[in-house]
Amino acid sequence: MNPEPLRILAPDAAGLSDASAILQAGGLVSFPTETVYGLGADARNDTAVAGIYAAKGRPSFNPLIVHLPDQQMAERYCVFNDDARRLAGAFWPGALTLVLPLKADAVVSRLVTAGLDTLAVRVPDHKVARALLEAFNGPVAAPSANPSGRVSPTKAAHVVAGLGDAIDAIVDGGDCPVGLESTIVACGDAPRLLRAGGIPAEAIEACLGAPLVRSADPALPVAPGQLASHYAPQGKVRLNAPYAKEDEVLLGFGPVDAALNLSPSGDLVEAAARLFACLHELDRMGAKSIAVSPIPDHGLGAAINDRLRRAAAPRP
Ligand code: TXA
Ligand code: MG
Repeated sequence: MNPEPLRILAPDAAGLSDASAILQAGGLVSFPTETVYGLGADARNDTAVAGIYAAKGRPSFNPLIVHLPDQQMAERYCVFNDDARRLAGAFWPGALTLVLPLKADAVVSRLVTAGLDTLAVRVPDHKVARALLEAFNGPVAAPSANPSGRVSPTKAAHVVAGLGDAIDAIVDGGDCPVGLESTIVACGDAPRLLRAGGIPAEAIEACLGAPLVRSADPALPVAPGQLASHYAPQGKVRLNAPYAKEDEVLLGFGPVDAALNLSPSGDLVEAAARLFACLHELDRMGAKSIAVSPIPDHGLGAAINDRLRRAAAPRP
């Protein structure tokens, strides 16, 4: 619990300078990125980073993504191989996170990597996030700004509802345009897909000219903390449902008669952008049983289905 009242900051020069000062002082600031709202702290400050885990109630083995203003600063922290340079050149700024070997002399809290010798880095493509990172001029550790195990926030109001009591400030930059977290790729000997996300795996493979190694079993966590029942709304979730049973609320896709629809026209980009907002809305409606229309498994559909499978998995 944070005793100070939550500050809602405007995404203008004054708001960003306040946000940067709060980060410098070791505070927690939620800010919009093109994917989802992040919960930011100075990645060099152990206490501040511990504050992220505390605010989220996050299991401490789950490492965090470090956000940087540009690739040059990312290269101070990580070793980039040829694949990493190619991917950063093609997709940064953007919804791609690279997991790379941590440099021996990199100053970053061990809590950020949860003790691993790799670091997840990303240069976001959002005006407000970039302006904040430039003002701060340092590494910002930021997981999605939701309580652990809950749905990622795509609006400032979601952050207020989930973490409002536990953080210092939010920069309100409106709705996140992508609405799904970043795609995570580990660049080791063979590049490996750790999490499907805002950039389709196919686009990454096209850029590399080679297939990504994928996990054989989607239920097994490849990114530490990728728990099977992550992203869960309060209600039970049933997938691939052409229609809802009597006691269910239908989350539709395409031209179906549904209480809520991810995309009435069947557009996967629109569905991705609306996914977490719809899951939040189902919680708000008090939906106890949720049926979800079938969603095609290509492009962003693969990332949407990955998240819905986690939402539908048995709860621990
Ligand atoms: O779009 C996004 O990526 C958002 C915005 C705020 O940037 N952030 C986000 O962070 O989704 P988070 O913490 O909710 O998810 C980070 C994922 C976790 O599944 C974590 O296990 C994985 O990244 N991860 C972080 N560091 C890692 C590492 N060194 N090796 C493997 N996985 C790592
Ligand atoms: Mg998250």
